Formats: sequence, C-alpha cells, structure tokens
Amino acid sequence: MKFGYFDDRNKEYVITTPQTPLPWINYLGSEDFFSLVSNTAGGYSFYRDARMRRLTRYRYNNSPLDMDGHRIYIKDGDTVWNPGWQPTKTPLDSYSCRHGLGYTVVEGKKDGVTARQELFVPKGDACELDRVTVCNESAAVKELDLFSYVEFCLWDAVDDSSNFQRNYSTGEVEVEGSVIYHKTEYRERRNHYAVFWANCPVDSFDTTRDAFCGVYGGPADPQAVRAGHCSGSIAHGWAPVGALHIHLTLAPGESRSILFGLGYIENPQEEKFIAPGVINKTRAHAMMARYATDAQIDAARIALRTHWEELLSTYHLESGEEKLNRMVNIWHQYQCMVTFNMSRSASYYESGTGRGMGFRDSCQDLLGFVHIIPSRARERILDIAATQFEDGSAYHQYQPLTKKGNRDVGSGFNDDPLWLIAGTAAYLRETGDWSILEEQVPFDNDAAKAQPLMEHLRRSFNFTCTHLGPHGLPLIGRADWNDCLNLNCFSEHPGESFQITGPSEGPVAESVFIAGMFVKYGHEYAELCDHLNLTEEAAAARKHIDAVEQAVLTAGWDGAWFRRAYDAFGNPIGSKECAEGQIFIEPQGMCVMAGIGRETGQAAQALASVEERLDTKYGVVLLQPAYTGYQLNLGEISSYPPGYKENAGIFCHNNPWISCAEATLGHGDRAFAVYRKTCPAYIEDISEIHRTEPYVYSQMVAGKDAPTFGEAKNSWLTGTAAWTFFNISQYILGIQPTLDGLKVDPCIPHTLSGFTVTRRFRGAVYHITVDNAAGVQHGVKAVTVDGKAICGNVLPLAAAGTEVTVQVTMG
Ligand code: GLC
Ligand code: GLC
Repeated sequence: MKFGYFDDRNKEYVITTPQTPLPWINYLGSEDFFSLVSNTAGGYSFYRDARMRRLTRYRYNNSPLDMDGHRIYIKDGDTVWNPGWQPTKTPLDSYSCRHGLGYTVVEGKKDGVTARQELFVPKGDACELDRVTVCNESAAVKELDLFSYVEFCLWDAVDDSSNFQRNYSTGEVEVEGSVIYHKTEYRERRNHYAVFWANCPVDSFDTTRDAFCGVYGGPADPQAVRAGHCSGSIAHGWAPVGALHIHLTLAPGESRSILFGLGYIENPQEEKFIAPGVINKTRAHAMMARYATDAQIDAARIALRTHWEELLSTYHLESGEEKLNRMVNIWHQYQCMVTFNMSRSASYYESGTGRGMGFRDSCQDLLGFVHIIPSRARERILDIAATQFEDGSAYHQYQPLTKKGNRDVGSGFNDDPLWLIAGTAAYLRETGDWSILEEQVPFDNDAAKAQPLMEHLRRSFNFTCTHLGPHGLPLIGRADWNDCLNLNCFSEHPGESFQITGPSEGPVAESVFIAGMFVKYGHEYAELCDHLNLTEEAAAARKHIDAVEQAVLTAGWDGAWFRRAYDAFGNPIGSKECAEGQIFIEPQGMCVMAGIGRETGQAAQALASVEERLDTKYGVVLLQPAYTGYQLNLGEISSYPPGYKENAGIFCHNNPWISCAEATLGHGDRAFAVYRKTCPAYIEDISEIHRTEPYVYSQMVAGKDAPTFGEAKNSWLTGTAAWTFFNISQYILGIQPTLDGLKVDPCIPHTLSGFTVTRRFRGAVYHITVDNAAGVQHGVKAVTVDGKAICGNVLPLAAAGTEVTVQVTMG
C-alpha cells in the first residue's frame, strides 16, 4: 500500500494522507540552522547542534506521536483545524504534504478555506521561514483567526528536559510589536537568542504555555485558540512559547499570505545589550527585513531550488528505469547531504541529545557526499582528523558545536582509524586536491600536536599494523563497525555500556572485518604513498597488507565463507563450529570488496554462501542463525531479540557492501538484485509493512526471525545513504573517480541495454553514454572520447570548463 507518490518533475514526495504509518519527515537547512519537519508539520529546530543549541522542544516517544511542531491553527467559527491535521486532528476535506529538497509544503482544506504552510530554511541565513497562505474558496466572507505557535527549548535539550527545579525559574522573553524574543540565559553567559515573528501586525500574542494552551490543556486544544485570541502573557520562568494571532477577513476568492519566522541571533559580547536588561535587536531586525515581502521570500525559495539543481547536476542519470533515475538523481544524493550534515545526531529516532558526530560514521558519509560539495568534505576531514590520538586511534564520537572528542565514550573502536583513510582517499579521487595531505592537523584537538594530514593517515595505517592478535588478524578492541559485537567487555549489569565495560581493549579478540578493511584501505593508502613518491613506504605497507590478507585466507576462512572474528578466548565467531551466528554479512562484503580470495575462488564462494544463508525477500540479514539468548562473550549483539538490529536484522548499511562485492566479481544481475531489495522507490508499494519514509533508507529492517519481518526503523540517518550512492554510482553504473581520472567500468543487469550519465568532475563535464546492446553484465569493449578511440577505460582528464562526449560500448 502507498500513502503518496513521487513527483519527479518537482523532485518531491507527495504524501496524500496525514495518517502515514509513522511520521514521515524532511530536513530543512544545510548549513547552520536546521529543522526537522514531519508530514503534519511536527518537528523542531536547532542551530548547529541539536543538543546544545535547541530552539524548540520536541517530546520523543510521546503518545500521541509528533505533537510538538511548527503549528498553524485556523479558527473558523467553532471549528479549529490545522493544515497538517495534527495536533487538533480535525478531519480535513483535503490534505497533502510535499517534501522537497530543503523545503516542505503542507496544505489542508476545510469548509471552503485552503491553508498552505510552506516551510524552508533560506540559504545563508539562520532562520526557518513558514509562509502561510490562506485562501477563501467559499462563496461567503470568512472571518478567520490564524495562530502560529512554537514552544521554546531552553537551549540545552538535555538540561531542558530534566533540570526543572532551575529551568522553571529562568525563562525570559521580550516582545516588540509582532516579534517575540526568547532570551532565556541571555542575561548571563549566552550571547544568543531566538526570535519568532510575523511580517505583519498581529492582533494578539502569548509567550507562556499556560496562557496559550491552558495548564491542563495542550497543543491539541489550546485555550487561546478556542477563545479566538491570546492574552498577551509575558513569560517569567516556566515554559516560554511563541504564539502569534492574526484575524483575517477574507472575501470570496481572496487570499492572504503571512510569514512567520523563527530565527537564531548571536551578538558579540560587547554588543549584547542596548540598555540594562534590554537585548540588542539590530541583527534580528536585519534578518526580518530580509523576508518582509512575498517577493523576498519567493527569491529565497528560488535561490534554494537553484542551489539544489546545481548540486544534483554533478551526477545525473538517464536510464529508462524510472525508479532508478529518481533514486540516483534525487533521493540518494539528498539523503547523502542530510546524513553528511547530521551524522547520526538528530532524526525522529536519534534524539539529538545522544551521540554527536561519529568518527567512522562521518568518514563513511563522505563517500556519498564528496562529489556534492568537495570543500565541505575537505573541512570535515580536517575536523575529524583533529580528534585522532597520537597513536592513530580516535575518539569514537565528537560534538559538532565544539568539534571536540567525546571523553565518555573515548576510543578503542579499532576500525575507526582506517575509515579516515577511506574518506580522505575518496576526497582525493574526486578532487585531485593533494594539498589536503599537507594541512597541519592537531592530534586530540591540541594545536601544539599538529602534524600534516598525511601523518594522520600513516598513523591510522600503523595502528592496525601494531595491533594484531594471535592469528595475525587485527585486534577488535571495544567493537569494530558492528558496535554490538563486544568481544572484550563482558557486561553483566543492566544499564552498563556494552562497549566500554570491563577490559574492553583485550589482547586476543580479533576481527576479520577489520582485516578486510585493512587490505582495502591499506591499498588505498599505499597508492597515496606511490603518488607522493614514498616508494619504500608503499612497498613496506604492501608487505603488511599481504601478511594480513594471508591471515584472512587461512585463519579467517571457514570453509565456505569468511569468519567474523575470534573472541577473547581465541574461539571463532561466525563459523560453522558455532551453534548460532555461524555466518555474518560484514566480512563477506568487506573482504570481497578488498579483493581477498578473488583468484582462489573464495570470494565467489563467500558471496554464494551469503545468497544461500542470509538473503531474504526484503534484503540480506546481518547474520544467521540469530542469537536466541544473551551471551556474555558477545555483548550487545545478543541482547537484541532475534531479527532486530545487529542480531540478524536487515542492517541496510551493509547490504550495499554485498552489492559492491558482487560487482567486483562482475555479477551485475546479482549486484542490482541486492540493490533493489532495500531501495526505497522499489519498495514504496509495501509502505504499510515497511512503515518508514518511502523516499529514504532506514538503518534497519526487521529480519526473517522477527515477528515484524519487513518493518523498518531508524529512518534517514544511516551509512546506508552514502554506501548506496557509492555502490550504484561507482560499482554498478561504474562511473568511478580514480586518482588519475574518471574511469568507466559498469557492472549492470544484462537486461539494461544502456544508460547515460552526466558527470561533473574536476571542473569538466563528461556526457557518458554506455551502450549495452550486447546484453552483458560487465566488460568494456571500446571507449571513445569526442569521437576518438582511447586505450583502456580511464578517461583522459578534460580541462576545467570543457565538456566532453564519451561513448562506451560494453561487451
Ligand atoms: C550504527 C552506528 C554505526 C555502526 C552500526 C553498526 O548505525 O551509527 O557506527 O557501524 O550501527 O553497529
Ligand atoms: C547501539 C545500537 C547500535 C549503534 C550503537 C551506537 O549499540 O544498537 O546500532 O551503532 O548503539 O553507539
């Protein structure tokens, strides 16, 4: 069943009922100011950091769901309704929600009145704009009361939801005409405030939640709305809100549009006040002046659209396969931008108060983002590298606002260092900007300990070399990519962290997965050495890599697939010798991508085992058989009921690894089959089973052992976004940036007769047509550039500013 449809021309998903199986959200903003907005206009806003600079409140796990948001109420006689249905849930005569690139338009119609709520964050500014257009489509004059409402968060979202003894006394506002200034804590150490305004005179306002909602009322039935006016309340502590009311008299056919804005303003310390207790509003006035008229707002909308058109023009596919085009050209890349911005911090499943940016997550996100805005990728690489320790290990997480490593979690996740090589190498392949390796980057955020980025990568590489276990495989530490495989922790008490309990850096437990990574990204590191003429270093690196590869092919091989690990007692994990958890997805994907066992046939055999043992109709599960009970020596993975999360769920992030791995073996049919199974557009029809947004990936789909097989959770923020775009664009369609230029090496289903890709690369535009009249899955027979045949399939670098036409014949 579907709850909407794709509108590809407008690059939107159009939701046609407010009662989606779960709130279906979108992200506004891509620089500093962000809002999450659901299909009913629920959600919240923050500046840079969802925990430390939260502008509005959101109650996760609430019942009913999704009550807090960017609320518009319309009172028409005795009827009160919202254009997005929530929170009053007054039945609408019609409803739609269009989630587009950086904007959302919610439209409701009731009793001859249409209200359109258009939400976006303008480029280059720290505010959300909510333009509300109300149209009287009835034959009679309408007297309407329009209310816009937000509930402020007192900045630190954790403190805000726990430290009530203090917070009920700190709230402060100022009101000036149609503008409410939320200035809690501005009197002391904060130099920022929020501003909530309308671009026209208002008839009344409230700034206390008690006055607007009623002490025992709530957003579903606010007493001020029922009364038809606000009471001019001024918040002194308790819960400051912003509520603005405008009375509208609309003749038949008349419409009126009003802008409500929510902005974030920062003042220099010495310019905070204009009089004792009176905040300096100059910057707020300037912000409001930028969006005073419809023409200004339209211009900001157009600028946003143009911006996205430009970003997406870097990679454009025409394939004759509608769903594929839509995912590649719009939604994959859009989700990559959002995950780049958020890492795993704020979604409807990540509260924004937990983990900040993850080291490994952010590095992997680069794989799908680096072509979109390379300069931001560059900055991110340097930020991430600055959280690395001198021994090459890394803080597992860091806070986006401070860019400092998170000490509570610390380090010890032994895959982390290698992801830095992965992200940086991807950046270099895309841009050819070798200067990044010379950038001085601190260790542990200490400028006194700065070294060139290349030295960081060297230490990443060496960290694995110096942390090998008894079988010559890398030590796993607290966990590797699979946060839940905790072989050294032995957590026995509820509430303990599975990852950082006990002797979590044990000297024995090893990871075959990290070994695969070391081979793959070690080779990428060695190539950088080659390029820098570090010939001896490259040769030495390759010796280490070969030794680890041999260890994988012997100690890491189980007979028909790659083992997963060795535990703290030296027993294999992910082996036919185990009662449960005999085969895991991760080492099969990573080791085959690394090229391990390609010549010996082990690679093909490992993937055949995946198909036989892990494949399901909804995707490839993480392991089989699922663990049925908690096992101390395995940790969190066995804490989940069978079929969920890392315990045999379809963990979408590593499905593309299998697809990529298949592509490296030339299996185009199978690579595409794996891609399709979890791909949003291809499973839109089962939205009632899948439940999360049909335009983006979720972290996890319940596996075949779960009672809710096929149901997704944790949508939006997942490494799946980057890996999938990496997979489809580079492995399947085969347009691959390399250090030397763009390589074309498709591995596609034999039924795909061809496609064209327009690719902007290092300043030039390549129009690439791939002809597969031969009906093969892999293999390039001939390549011409501007009509001239070239040798091999790496395109000569075209001069920046030029366009070249490339014809590729498969066969
Ligand atoms: C989550 C984490 C990611 C980890 C994965 C598997 O998605 O964000 O870092 O690799 O789970 O445990
Ligand atoms: C939990 C989750 C896992 C996630 C990790 C991040 O362990 O189950 O998926 O990667 O938290 O810290």
